[in-house]
Order: sequence, then structure tokens, then C-alpha cells
Amino acid sequence: MKITLNPKLSSKTDLIVFPLFENEEAAKTVKQKTKLLIPEAALADFKNEIGNSLLVYTPTARLLLIALGKKQNFGAKNWRIAIHTAITNAQKLQAKSISLFLPSVNRAWVPNYLELTGFAVTHSAYQFNIYKQGNKTPAFEQIEIVIQNNKSYKTALNDGGMIGLATNQARDLANHPGNIMTPKHLAQHAITIAKKYKLNYKILGESEMMREKLGLILGVSRGSDEPPRFIILESGNQKQPPIVLIGKGLTFDSGGISIKPAEKMEEMKFDMAGGATVLGVMQAAAMLKLSSHLVAIIPAAENLVSGAALKPGDILVAHDKTSVEIINTDAEGRLVLADAISFAKKHYQPKLIIDYATLTGAVLVALGDEYTGFFANTKTYDKLINQASLATAENLWPLPLVSEYQDQLQSQVADLKNVGEKGLAGVITAALFLKHFVQNTPWIHLDIAGTASTMRPKKHLTVGATGWGVYLTLKFLRNL
Ligand code: BES
Ligand code: ZN
Ligand code: ZN
Repeated sequence: MKITLNPKLSSKTDLIVFPLFENEEAAKTVKQKTKLLIPEAALADFKNEIGNSLLVYTPTARLLLIALGKKQNFGAKNWRIAIHTAITNAQKLQAKSISLFLPSVNRAWVPNYLELTGFAVTHSAYQFNIYKQGNKTPAFEQIEIVIQNNKSYKTALNDGGMIGLATNQARDLANHPGNIMTPKHLAQHAITIAKKYKLNYKILGESEMMREKLGLILGVSRGSDEPPRFIILESGNQKQPPIVLIGKGLTFDSGGISIKPAEKMEEMKFDMAGGATVLGVMQAAAMLKLSSHLVAIIPAAENLVSGAALKPGDILVAHDKTSVEIINTDAEGRLVLADAISFAKKHYQPKLIIDYATLTGAVLVALGDEYTGFFANTKTYDKLINQASLATAENLWPLPLVSEYQDQLQSQVADLKNVGEKGLAGVITAALFLKHFVQNTPWIHLDIAGTASTMRPKKHLTVGATGWGVYLTLKFLRNL
């Protein structure tokens, strides 16, 4: 898909998209900007609430009015919804090219707004249909943004488009089924990115992981015939201490011997979405030539059942020598992350660790599927993270790393056990488990179990993997 800027509407367009605020004089504004006449009667059907739209046939063009709702509620979220409404309607109409008018916003927001536009258009046009025969919705070819042709606007729009592209690649990784997206395949994709953008990379196989004593991830992987991979990418200026990004890479999570119910188990192909996000961030950072020193670590494995599988009661020894009693083999994410965290601390002396993980069902209970659970052992980055979240409409909400629940992880026979009590702050005890390995290194933990994928279409999202966190992280890194 090509995104272009054009100061005035081109004559060759399949669909004109015109967003309007509530109380705006629709017919007058549209006439002024497009010279098109809307029959008054048509407007009677246009209810200006965010997510609504109305298709109008004028004598010379197809015009799609997009409701923006109240002006005072306008921001990144509503703009993403408006764009998503426009793109999904255009796809239904089989429009190949569209022209999008931009509502005027506060001057200070303009560059940010164009970046967001580039991102949202790319994100919303995404389709995952490579496994379907025939009858595919045709891909969109071109979108023209009707706005003054200014160099900084163009850069912002292109940057957003590139971040959108990297996000869509991350979504592809997560949308692929578990039989295709194995740890090996995920590692191959990481190598492809590394080669394309000239990043350093290192992939540890099973025997190298044994040499490195990554006991927790090896334990998780034991029940699967697919060998695990420990994926490392590095970019940017290596003279500075790095920011280490760790992504949970469970290419399928059956729960292991503590097996999950059959219902919705297929959604556990998304359990490597954190790893996908981290690869998306590395790709976008490379495309935007970010100079920050970044290290990506993805512990990739499959959690299955077999005669060799990990059992409740088993004790594993972690990379940092902590002994862990396995109470529930389905709490495997924290195990693979713990080893990645210790490994990062030992080899990279990180300035900050950020982890992305579809870690707990409990975060869905606490925050639902629109907010990522945010934990941090420092307040240093709170402001920047919140700004990045607001600017990208990737929502997160702070949860407390409170020490009162640490006792829940005490084991009778080992240093730690891998789960707390059932139904008692499961999202927090998972974070506390990780904290044991992080200790005092500045750290942000993002529990994306609710936000990494969606099985129902949302106002701003198509079904499947969302790529949550790629844009937010890029925004954060660029403002650091
Ligand atoms: N991958 C799951 C978490 C998950 C649940 C992701 C729902 C997406 C949607 C994770 O490995 C898991 O199974 N966690 C357990 C932990 C429990 C055994 C303490 C959970 O949340 O049930
Ligand atoms: Zn699990
Ligand atoms: Zn899992």
C-alpha cells in the first residue's frame, strides 16, 4: 500500500473519505473542501457518534462520511477508530484507492497526528488471509492524505507507515498457527530481520542452552518434540548500556501436564505475541535508524505434554541458580522469562529491562482486553510511558508490585514455587516471581495477555494478533 500526501484532492480516486465532528455543518464543509454536494436527506441518516459512517453517492463520486463525535473527545483513540472505520468500509466497497481528508487539530499535535495517521492506516489495512483459498478481500493499493505538502508532515507520515509495517509483521508472526510458527521458525524470522537490517544476532540451540544452564526454559520445553531457541538480537550504539527487551516466545501453550481446557486452547498460538512485539520493535527501530542500544531476547519454546514433560512437584534450577518448585506447569511464561532476565543481567548490564508477555489470565479479569497490565520497580519512566500510551492509543494501566504477596511464592522444598494461591492477585504474584530475578535493575513488566490478540472485531482492530506494544515502545524510545 502506498501512502501519499496531496494538497488537493486528485480526480482519480475510488472513494473520498471525509471525517466530521458532531455539530459541524456537514454539507457546507464538504462542499467547501471537495466541491461535492450532499443531498440534505442523506444527512438525516448520519448519526455523529464515533465508529459511525455514512456512504453517500454524489453524481460524480462516492463519499464516505466518518463520524468523529465530540470535538473535545478527539485524540489518538478516536482518530484510530475513525481511520479503522474508513478502511474497513473501503475494503467492503472494494475501493483500490482512497482520499482521506484530515480534520484540523491543534497545531502542536500535527506531526504526532500525521505519524499516527500513517500507523493507523497501515495497521487497519492489515489482513491475514494467506491460508485461505479464493474470495480474499483485495488489498488496498493507495491512500492519499489530503493536506498541505510539507516535508515534516511527509516524514511523520512515513515514519508512522514504517512502524505500522513492522507492527503488521509482528502480527503475522503471532497469527501463524503453532504448527508453522515453531521456535525454529521464529528464530529464522529473527535472523531474516537481523540480516536485512544488519543487526547482530545469536541464536542458542538446545545444547548451547544447556551449556548456559538455562534450566527453566529447558524444563518448560522438555515435553515438546520441537527444540527450543534462545533468540538474541542487538542494535544501536554498543558503547552505552542497553535497554533489553524480553518477549515471551511460547509458540504454543497447552498448559503441559497441568493441561488447559480444550475450549479456546487454539488461542494459545498467540502465546509468543510478546516475542513478536519485540521483533517488531527491533525492525521498526532499524527502519527508523534509531541509535539507542537495544538488545532483544526471546526465549522460544513449546509447552506440551509427553512422557518427558515437566511434572507438578518437579524442581528446576534456574540460570541464576534459584531452585523453583513447579506447582503448575501452565505457569510456564514466568519460567522462561526468569531465565531470560538473569541471562540479560549477566551478559548485558542493562540500563532498563522491558518484558512483554501474555503472562496471566488474571490480567484479563483485572483489566479486560483493552488495557495492558503495567508494573515497574522504578518511577523513572512512568511519565514517558504514559505519554507514549496516550499518543499511540495503546492502553496500559499501573498495577502494584506489592511485597505483601511475596509469601505466596514460598516453597517448602525449594527457593521459590512458580504459582501463588488461586484467585489471589494472580497478575501480581506472576510479576513478583519475575521481580525475584530482576532484583534492582530498572524494569518494566507488561502483561499483554488481554491486549495481544482479539477474537472479536473491535472499533479500531480486526480479529487476530494486534501487535500491541510496537508503536508504544518506539514512541517511548524516541522520546527517551
Ligand atoms: N499463556 C497463559 C496466560 C494467558 C491466558 C494468555 C489467557 C492469554 C489468555 C499462561 O501461560 C498461563 O497459563 N498462566 C496461568 C497461570 C496460573 C497457572 C497461575 C493462568 O493465567 O491461568
Ligand atoms: Zn501457561
Ligand atoms: Zn503461556
